[in-house]
Amino acid sequence: MSVSRQPPARSARLHARQTLLLMFILPLFFALVKAQPERTVAVDRLENVTHTVTRILDGYDIRLRPNFGGDPLYVGMDLTIASFDAISEVNMDYTITLYLNQYWKDERLAFGLQDEVLTLSGDFADKIWVPDTFFANDKNSFLHDVTERNKLVRLGGDGSVTYGMRFTATLACMMDLHYYPLDSQNCTVEIESYGYTVSDVVMYWKETPVRGVEDAELPQFTILGHETNDRKEKLATGIYQRLSLSFKLRRNIGYFVFQTYLPSILIVMLSWVSFWINHEATSARVALGITTVLTMTTISTGVRSSLPRISYVKAIDIYLVMCFVFVFAALLEYAAVNYTYWGARARKRAKLKNRDQISTSTSMDKELKSGEGSHSPEEIIALREYTTTTGRVSPLPSLRSRPLPPTTGAPPSLRLQRDYTNLRYRTRPHSKNSRNNTNKPKMMHALKRGATVIKASMPKIRDVNVIDTYSRVIFPICFLIFNGVYWVFYIFD
Ligand SMILES: *[C@@H]1O[C@H](CO)[C@@H](O)[C@H](O)[C@H]1NC(C)=O
Ligand SMILES: *[C@@H]1O[C@H](CO)[C@@H](O)[C@H](O)[C@H]1NC(C)=O
Repeated sequence: MSVSRQPPARSARLHARQTLLLMFILPLFFALVKAQPERTVAVDRLENVTHTVTRILDGYDIRLRPNFGGDPLYVGMDLTIASFDAISEVNMDYTITLYLNQYWKDERLAFGLQDEVLTLSGDFADKIWVPDTFFANDKNSFLHDVTERNKLVRLGGDGSVTYGMRFTATLACMMDLHYYPLDSQNCTVEIESYGYTVSDVVMYWKETPVRGVEDAELPQFTILGHETNDRKEKLATGIYQRLSLSFKLRRNIGYFVFQTYLPSILIVMLSWVSFWINHEATSARVALGITTVLTMTTISTGVRSSLPRISYVKAIDIYLVMCFVFVFAALLEYAAVNYTYWGARARKRAKLKNRDQISTSTSMDKELKSGEGSHSPEEIIALREYTTTTGRVSPLPSLRSRPLPPTTGAPPSLRLQRDYTNLRYRTRPHSKNSRNNTNKPKMMHALKRGATVIKASMPKIRDVNVIDTYSRVIFPICFLIFNGVYWVFYIFD
C-alpha cells in the first residue's frame, strides 16, 4: 500500500516546488524586465520637464501680464490663518501670520494636460509674471525664510498657476475704545492690486476664502466671526478691486475684572470702613481716606499705561473716576463730620468768650473812667483761663482758643491792657463799616443774608454720629446703583 502510494506523493511535492517557483521567481523576473523601461520613462520625463520649463520660459516677457491688452485677468485668493500674534491698542494695529494663496491662469505657461501639475521652487516666481498684490492696511510685514523662503509655485498643464507664501504682517486696525474694556473690535485684512486697475486685474475670493479662524487663539480676545467682502476702491490713480476680510473680536473681560474692577470695588469698600471708626480718631480716618484716594490714583495710572492717549472717555475711565469720586466723598464726609463737631464747639465757645469780653470791657471802661476797679485783674484772667481749660481742645489749631502764656513774666495788668487794645481794634472796623454802609454796594449784604438763609435752611445736626450713620447706608446704596447702571448700560448695549 505504502509503495503504491509513494509516487503520487513525490509528484505532489514536485508540483508544489514548481508553483513556488512560479509564484516567486517569475514575478521577480517580470519585475526586473519591466523596471528597465519604467526607469527610462522617468528619466525621459525628467528631461522632458526640464525641457518643458526651459521651453515655456523661452521668450516669456515677465513684464507683461497674462492676456495683455485683452480681458482683465482674474486672480483668485484664499487665506489660511496660522496665528493671531498680538493686538496693540497703543499702536492701533494687530499682528497676524498668514498663508496667502493666489490663483490665476497664464496661457503662456501651458505645457500639456490640465491634470499635469508641476510643483516648482519658490524662486520660479522670480521668472514669471506675478500679481502685485499688497495689503492696504499693512504697516510692516515680512516673508519667513527659515529654512528657505516660504513660497511655492505650482504650475498646471493648462497654464494655471498657484502661488503661495507664508508671512507675518502687522496690519492697522483703528479701534473704537469708547467701550474699552467691554468693547468689540472689527479688524480687517485689505488686499488689493497695487498697480493694476479693474480693467487689468480683478481679484476675487475662492469658494473657501478663509481657513483656520476657528483654531486661532488670542489671549485677550475671542474671535466671534469673520466675513469677506469685495468692493471697488476709487483712488487717485484709478479704480481698484479690493478684497477685505474682517474679524469680529470681543475683548475678554476676565483680565480687567481681576486687574482693575475688583481692586477698585474693594478700595471703595475700604473707604467706608471710616464710617465705623469713632470721629475723634482723626489720624485713623484721615489716613484711611488719603490711602484709598492714592490707591485709586495708582490703579488708574496702571490702566492708562496700556492705552494710547485718547481724548474721549472710555468705559473704564467712567468706572475709575466714579470710584475715585466715592473714595473722595468718603474723605470729605469725614471733613464734614469733623467740622460740624469742632465748629459747633468753637462757635459755642466764641459766644461764651464774646459775652465774657463784653462784660470785661464794660467793667474795664468803668474802671478806666472811675479809676478804681470793682474786679481785680487777676480775677478776670482766672475766669478766662477757666473757660479755655474747661472747653475741649480742638485738634485744629485755628479753632483752638489760644490761652495766654502764663509765664511771660509781665504783670497781669499789662496782659489785660493788650487784650483791651485788641478788643478796641477789633471793634473799630465794625463801626466804620456801619458808617460806610450807604455808599458800599449792597452786594456784600445780600450775599451775607443769602449765606445766613442757607445756613438756617440746613438741617441742624445735634449729634455728628448721625452723618456717619446715614453715610453707612447711603454710600453703599449709591455705589450699588452706580454699578447696576454701569453694567447694564455697557453689557446690554
Ligand atoms: C514630453 O513632452 C511632450 C510635450 O511637451 C509630450 O508630448 C511627450 O509625450 C513627453 N514625453 C514623455 C516621454 O513624457
Ligand atoms: C467690519 O466693518 C466693515 C466696514 O467698516 C463691515 O463691512 C464689516 O461687515 C464689519 N465686519 C464685521 C465682522 O462686523
